[in-house]
Amino acid sequence: MYAVTISEPGGPDVLRWSQVPDPVPGPGEVLIEVHASAVNRADLLQRAGQYPPPPGAPPYPGLECAGVVAAVGPEVSGLAPGEEVCALLGGGGYAQRVSAPAGQVLPVPHGVALADAASLPEVACTVWANVVDLAGLRAGETLLVHGGGSGIGTFAIQLAVALGARVVTTARAGKHAALRELGAAVTVDYRDQDFVAATKEATGGRGADVILDIMGASYLARNLAALAPDGRLAIIGLQGGRRTELDLAALLATRGVISATGLRSRPPADKARIVKGVREQVWPLVESGAVRPVIDRRLPMPEAAQAHRIVEASEHLGKVLLVTA
Ligand SMILES: NC(=O)c1ccc[n+]([C@@H]2O[C@H](COP(=O)([O-])OP(=O)(O)OC[C@H]3O[C@@H](n4cnc5c(N)ncnc54)[C@H](OP(=O)(O)O)[C@@H]3O)[C@@H](O)[C@H]2O)c1
Repeated sequence: MYAVTISEPGGPDVLRWSQVPDPVPGPGEVLIEVHASAVNRADLLQRAGQYPPPPGAPPYPGLECAGVVAAVGPEVSGLAPGEEVCALLGGGGYAQRVSAPAGQVLPVPHGVALADAASLPEVACTVWANVVDLAGLRAGETLLVHGGGSGIGTFAIQLAVALGARVVTTARAGKHAALRELGAAVTVDYRDQDFVAATKEATGGRGADVILDIMGASYLARNLAALAPDGRLAIIGLQGGRRTELDLAALLATRGVISATGLRSRPPADKARIVKGVREQVWPLVESGAVRPVIDRRLPMPEAAQAHRIVEASEHLGKVLLVTA
């Protein structure tokens, strides 16, 4: 089969469409004939040599896919060849075939085209795990989403609105109209507006009950200033660095909680638990149309380098798909 390989750590041009050995599904695994994968920011880091795949994962990039079950390994029940599925992967989605743990496989939601379902597993699992499962966002609360135009952001805005929350989001100005269409009440241009002041103004001075943060160090102090009493700050990205000072008094005064989690490194049982939660609580919202895939464009998988250039420059809104045919 063919897969996108990384010839050496570097820029987009190190991605090659190469012949590689076929994967063989092990115990508890399902072999998927891939129709599409999607680009995640983590793939760019992996390509640059800064984010190695976890032990046992294929060396090719690709944290999610959609396709058709081609075979099932030993000890798999409830999945059969021919079924249309999408899956959360530890890697290897940029390929014609991939093996996935059965606990990380989801049905394609009714009403979503098979290839388009490749845009969902990584964002649905990350956003549900952080915003719903961990931070416990409730109807009537306010969620501040940083990077609202990202794959993660476009999903988080819709999910929060579907759950009855109000959304404030940061993004470059050119993406604001689309984010308001997705349901964001307030959009802030992070390049020349103060998101703390905007969040306070939007909440009558209270602040955001939950913040989904992709910046890390560079936003920590301002995130704490924007957090409401009993607020929860869920850090999932470190685009603004990993080390900074933390003023504990700012947390103590408002009883704030900070979490930082990565999905890819979680043990399989935890990923399966998250996938189950997504299937039960998020898939019905996708099937009702309340939450929809936001797909910027679809490129042939051999053109993965071009897809990476687009995502690196942040020219996209939502997800960039890589399709095999
Ligand atoms: N921990 C986990 O489990 C997990 C899982 C998945 C993703 N993530 C993280 O979530 C983030 C989004 O992932 P993705 O694949 O959806 O990425 P993406 O589509 O490539 O989006 C990256 C976003 O970062 C935004 N951004 C850059 N600088 C910013 C700033 N100063 N303030 C606010 N936003 C800024 C960009 O906004 P503009 O385009 O508007 O400039 C862009 O929308 C990444 O950091 C990724 O590593 C974490």
